[in-house]
Amino acid sequence: MAQVRQRIKQIAQSEASTVLLEGESGTGKDLVARSIHTESNRSGHPFIEVNCSAIPETLIESELFGHERGAFTDAKGRKAGLLELATRGTLYLDEMGDMNPNLQSKLLSVIEHKRFRRLGGVKDISVDVRFIAATNRNLTAAVERGDFRQDLFYRLKVFPITLPPLRERMSDLPLLVDFLLGELQKEFKKKIQGLSPEAYRFLTNYQWPGNVRELRNILERAFILCEGEKIEPENLPPELIATPVLLESGSFLFNIPPQGISLEAVEKDLIRQALKMCGGNQIRAARLLGISRDVLRYRMKKFNFI
Ligand SMILES: Nc1ncnc2c1ncn2[C@@H]1O[C@H](COP(=O)(O)OP(=O)(O)O)[C@@H](O)[C@H]1O
Ligand SMILES: [Mg+2]
Repeated sequence: MAQVRQRIKQIAQSEASTVLLEGESGTGKDLVARSIHTESNRSGHPFIEVNCSAIPETLIESELFGHERGAFTDAKGRKAGLLELATRGTLYLDEMGDMNPNLQSKLLSVIEHKRFRRLGGVKDISVDVRFIAATNRNLTAAVERGDFRQDLFYRLKVFPITLPPLRERMSDLPLLVDFLLGELQKEFKKKIQGLSPEAYRFLTNYQWPGNVRELRNILERAFILCEGEKIEPENLPPELIATPVLLESGSFLFNIPPQGISLEAVEKDLIRQALKMCGGNQIRAARLLGISRDVLRYRMKKFNFI
């Protein structure tokens, strides 16, 4: 993230007209796009966000380029597009990977010639805009499949920033948790000291498929549910708790979900896993489970494994 911050600064102060942000959903792409804008000398001008997958294909072109009166049936008057509104500022194209190929080629032309026409217009309008495109999809693969124009991809990729998923930078977790709890404290005016060590261990044990956004949501929920001074495991959602945490002592910290569990099913599954890990070797599987071979055989019989 220190590298990411440095890139933000470099790019913000440069004349770079295109930036590509790549990263899974929730890794902070919107935040980075806004930082690039605020730290640049464009900050006094608009920051305009377009979500390429949220606007219907039939509308996005007139949204971006604007139109002249009568350009199409519903075009009652002249309308400036987002490109014009973003003049001297930044246009943030979110979920760029979903933009249709026809629009991709029009956009490339705008980026290269710094000019465009409104729909139905005959006059070229010049643009001074920085384009920041974001995607949570692998654009290289999309290019290979032919879903994304290679020339546009190379044009965008001149200044790339890749945001790592949270699970690959878990050393940032304490900082993020502190920061997010601080924000929640301001918002909810509730005196919560933080997380208990047990609750915190669940956070470090989780894979965070939804990244920082998921962390934020989970902390917010816990914050609201928490009645004591510290957030406890029972304030965390089941998907976090369902992953057992191996403690240093070697035992598991496993919170039983409200709907309960079947002890027998858990035991059966652990035995099955151990046998699989040891290629069916009962002596090693028993050792893995901390029981004797006889006990293991007894349970295997009970569960009809043998
Ligand atoms: N480094 C960070 N520090 C603090 N909050 C962050 C950070 N990265 C992401 N967030 C928060 O996580 C949420 C998702 O971030 P966002 O920029 O919308 O992600 P993306 O656009 O990649 O899906 C937002 O609430 C954002 O404020
Ligand atoms: Mg986003």
